[in-house]
Amino acid sequence: MSQATLMSREEYVAFLNLLLEAERAGAHTLADWIDEPAAGADIRAPLLAAQRDEARNCASLIELLMAAGAKPSMATGGFHRRARSLCTWAERLSFLNRGQAWVERRIAEALPRLEDQTAKQVLAAMRESHRANIDVCDRLLRSVASARERAAVSLHPMPHKEMQ
Ligand SMILES: [Fe+2]
Repeated sequence: MSQATLMSREEYVAFLNLLLEAERAGAHTLADWIDEPAAGADIRAPLLAAQRDEARNCASLIELLMAAGAKPSMATGGFHRRARSLCTWAERLSFLNRGQAWVERRIAEALPRLEDQTAKQVLAAMRESHRANIDVCDRLLRSVASARERAAVSLHPMPHKEMQ
């Protein structure tokens, strides 16, 4: 079995900055959404927890970049701008999970190519927190979908025999 090629320093720095921009975009996006009064109590708490994870990831990535003697990017990923056009919670949560899955995949691909043990540990933990947040977000999506169905049923009551 061939061993994965280790990342060059340039690749490593570019990778960390790419993640930093993505996590910053996620943190801003979640901060926008959790302040909306439309967010019900059952959505706000898990989104707030995810937002804290994104902010903590930014801090961890900045630390790794500084430990590598590199300058952390100040940019915010395009995810934040695109997320602003989404109005329904179903759209938002789906979009959020596509972003989370993208980050999780990128980290999974990068892990075998890293030499630094601290970076490996930090990024493996970041990958795990993304997996956990993807599960949480999937559950929120299901609860949003079933709340929507209940609302549709109460607006358009169906004959009893069709409501099974
Ligand atoms: Fe993230």
